[in-house]
Amino acid sequence: MPTDIKDMIPAEERYRSKTPRSHDAFKQMGSVMPGVAKGAYYYAPYPITIDHADGCYLYDIDGNQYVDFANHHTAQILGHNHPAINEAVTQQLKKGIAVAGPMGVETQLASEICRRVDSVESIRFCNSGTEATLHAVRLAREYTGRYKIAKFEGGYHGSHDSVEISVAPDLQKAGPSDRPNAVPTAGGMPPNATENIVILPDNNEEVVERIIAEHKQDLACVLLDPKAGIMPQRPEFVRTVREITEKNDILLMLDEIVGFRAARGGIQSQYNISPDLTTFGKIIGGGFPIGAFGGRKDLMALLDPTNKGARLFQSGTFSAHPVAMAAGMALLGELNESAFEHLAFLSDRLTDGLNHIFIHSSTPVQVACSASTFSFYFTEHPVRTYRDSVASDQVKVHQVFLALLDQGYYLGNGLGMNCLSLPMNETHIDGLIQAIENALEVFVE
Ligand SMILES: Cc1ncc(COP(=O)(O)O)c(C=O)c1O
Repeated sequence: MPTDIKDMIPAEERYRSKTPRSHDAFKQMGSVMPGVAKGAYYYAPYPITIDHADGCYLYDIDGNQYVDFANHHTAQILGHNHPAINEAVTQQLKKGIAVAGPMGVETQLASEICRRVDSVESIRFCNSGTEATLHAVRLAREYTGRYKIAKFEGGYHGSHDSVEISVAPDLQKAGPSDRPNAVPTAGGMPPNATENIVILPDNNEEVVERIIAEHKQDLACVLLDPKAGIMPQRPEFVRTVREITEKNDILLMLDEIVGFRAARGGIQSQYNISPDLTTFGKIIGGGFPIGAFGGRKDLMALLDPTNKGARLFQSGTFSAHPVAMAAGMALLGELNESAFEHLAFLSDRLTDGLNHIFIHSSTPVQVACSASTFSFYFTEHPVRTYRDSVASDQVKVHQVFLALLDQGYYLGNGLGMNCLSLPMNETHIDGLIQAIENALEVFVE
């Protein structure tokens, strides 16, 4: 049974008493913006306003310190105020912030990503993950001459009309699990926004194969975010999706916007698959706005203005912004094998610690933890699909979120997308495990 809303009052009262300046800042923000500066900033009763960030710590305007396990919606991995990023950005600021022509630094970042990710032979930059999937979907449609795309129920690939469908559908509208309906996520989409999309269920090879075969004449691509560390994934499932798309001559677009933080060669190197197209974002800009999409050379050639067969134009005033490119290069310079080893060590310690407390807790909790990303669901049954995740008790989630803030741990809003950063050590991990154990005690009868 979901927790009663009245149980939340003590956690909220404590939160309010420690964050009066954030409360005032929130009021001020709401007087000139609709509530908050962007949707993802909001959680009840109001978000903390951050004064500054350093290493793996955030400091709010009331003087509270938090260990940062949100890492800017997973976009930060080196920690804040990193000297290598600061130095690269300072040098680039002196050379030029924004100029209407290439500066060479974009070729460096493109080369580095192509070197790391085997399936990416050629790449283009934009400003966000949303733009990356927008352009990649357009490319897939143009290349194949087909206009439908398929995506998984619960998958988020950005906020444009082609893909923001069935991200978190109401189960009353979602249809049968072996034939999910396409449900628009946001208001304001035209009624035909769902016409060119096919929704697939997670973790069900048989149904995925059947639905793809039914639509193969019309499908340009399948979009897949393996959601490692967000939802427990079976690598065999991801590999099977690759086999099914190949067999049906449909492009596979792997969304590595979060996944790229898993390994040097991206999550595709861990799963040993080779997608046709890959989208990137988040960490590759070293904390600056960025997105990218890349893949097979013959596909990317449709964008090449020196190629007579070019049929697409992708640009954007701030695309391939030199400061983001320089920060991205500095980031990848730091993200070497020993960095991934350190993150894997911390991740294993966290997984073991969480499993230990969750096994002994009277509150049922499911944990997903992979590479440097982790999530919790307050539900009795294992979470393998979006529909399983809906059972998670959101009141408990919020109460634990506030209880963790109270103890100095800042996690992702909703506890569904938390992650580690390189400056963390065993003390931060053990501290978080203890704080979660303390938070769960609130639910003991
Ligand atoms: C898997 C995935 N794809 C795409 C996006 C969209 O990226 P952006 O917020 O940079 O537009 C996100 C954002 O959280 C994401 O998690």
